[in-house]
Amino acid sequence: MAVAIGALLPPLTSWLLAVNRTIPEPYLDEVFHVRQAQQYCNGNFHDWDPKITTPPLLYLLSYAVSRKDFLRDRFGIDLGLPLLGCDIFALRAINAIGLVLLAVLLVRLYSNRHPAAYKAHHLLFQHSALNIVLFPPLFFFSALYYTDVWSTFFVVLFYVQLVEGHHTGILGFLKLLAIGLASLACRQTNIFWVAIFPAGIALVQEIDNGHAAVKDSIHREVQGFGDGVYSVAKTSWKYEVVYDPPAKDAWVIAYLLTFVSIVGCALKTVSQPKRLLGLTVALAPYLTLLAIFAAFVLWNGSVVLGDKSNHIATFHLPQMLYLWPFLSFFSLPIFSPYILLLPVTLLAELASLGSLESMQIFRRRRLLPRVWLVVIFLGIACMTVLGGTAVHPFTLADNRHYMFYVFRLLMRPWWMRYAVTPIYFTCAWSCMQTLGSGPAAERQAPGSLPDGEHSATISFVLVWVATSALQLVTAPLVEPRYFILPWIFWRMHLPLQQPPSTPHEEKKAGPESWSSFWKTYDHRLWLETVWLLAINAVTGYIFLNWGFAWPQEPGKVQRFMW
Ligand SMILES: *[C@@H]1O[C@H](CO)[C@@H](O)[C@H](O)[C@H]1NC(C)=O
Repeated sequence: MAVAIGALLPPLTSWLLAVNRTIPEPYLDEVFHVRQAQQYCNGNFHDWDPKITTPPLLYLLSYAVSRKDFLRDRFGIDLGLPLLGCDIFALRAINAIGLVLLAVLLVRLYSNRHPAAYKAHHLLFQHSALNIVLFPPLFFFSALYYTDVWSTFFVVLFYVQLVEGHHTGILGFLKLLAIGLASLACRQTNIFWVAIFPAGIALVQEIDNGHAAVKDSIHREVQGFGDGVYSVAKTSWKYEVVYDPPAKDAWVIAYLLTFVSIVGCALKTVSQPKRLLGLTVALAPYLTLLAIFAAFVLWNGSVVLGDKSNHIATFHLPQMLYLWPFLSFFSLPIFSPYILLLPVTLLAELASLGSLESMQIFRRRRLLPRVWLVVIFLGIACMTVLGGTAVHPFTLADNRHYMFYVFRLLMRPWWMRYAVTPIYFTCAWSCMQTLGSGPAAERQAPGSLPDGEHSATISFVLVWVATSALQLVTAPLVEPRYFILPWIFWRMHLPLQQPPSTPHEEKKAGPESWSSFWKTYDHRLWLETVWLLAINAVTGYIFLNWGFAWPQEPGKVQRFMW
């Protein structure tokens, strides 16, 4: 743990202090959050700012830690920490603390998912956890009083409970419920990650009754789509076995087959009362959270608390296109190999269109997306752009956010939004490939969670994409902060390249093991650290030093931010 935290503290504290030095007053949305938190700290729980859209857990946290006088007077405990107050520095610092705790959680998650690998390569996993918390839209808001850091923390805490297997029994149920509600009390959209996502995973696990022999035969049988879809549907219905191969080298057809198989097994399960009961019990925590959420929305009349007219849930399909370049931009170092590979292999395929033999090689290697797949994707993408492109007035009106400039570029000549669709495709393809980049595990149960070493299974990828889609397409605004959870869930499950460790190797010590450590490390992580730190440094510098004024608000400094 110490390495990740030790490496995080210098950039984090410098960022926190620099923001405090340059911007001692609340900035932008902070105005609402800080005012509300200070009301709470003064014990005034009745005045609620109707402009605030999210529930008050963050303010309650600040209130709780500001009770140091209470601790001293009542129990004689003097913590004496400068953080525990309610002035703006203390309020912001609680997010910095949240980020450190998130790093701790991520390390714990890695060590739980794959204890043996973690033991052998703990530096690698700590490095990866560090990179995750350096994610720019998250890191940026760790020095401001926004709700994103704690919101992310609670969602990841929820996920850690699942991974650790604490979700069974009545105690596990209550624990999940409490953490899930805490995450919803930070941000309502977390419902997708504490209900839909785990329910999807649990569903796949539950509907499969795991005949290993049938499973092997279905994998052998499935060759193409034509006969594949029939045999998969039949086997799924008959034996209740989910077809769920590793995403490694998987062709898009395999995704369709997995989907068909899940539907088939689910229908069969639902048709048997006894199994349906088992399924309901397995999904109980998530269904309960969903029910509570639905009750809240009915009572409130909307998902957001305040400013309802500007935050109406929509069907904003192009968000699913924006997701991919967004993930790709921040993770460029991770999959630079794929980005470089794609044009080369595409060219090779085009060049060899006539010659059947070389086509076969590619087909077997499954290196490239098929041409027809590219054409279909681009067609769908162009239709999405044509029918769904909607730019929220907030985005166009606010030149303080980077998104404003992105959309200006995207909208200016009318054809630009279509011209970039190949970029969406390249990025989407690379993201999928990277999730399946590890070696395929020997035998993975359907719905098993990726362990950070092996390729994810297709069902996991499907559930992740579906959850991200639900979260994003319902959001009218395109905000980098909305992509934090899709990115984190993608990044947490990325297979890291690990050297094969034999017991013999582990015993070695001294300089020799250092050189072997270096030789076998996943060096993409260094590049990623440098890349993320650089983005944070540049955006942080611009935020602090490139202030400007709007003509309509003279004398007030406006700053560029995510
Ligand atoms: C934060 O800024 C305020 C106002 O400039 C200053 O008084 C305070 O000492 C700063 N806090 C820290 C911890 O540097």
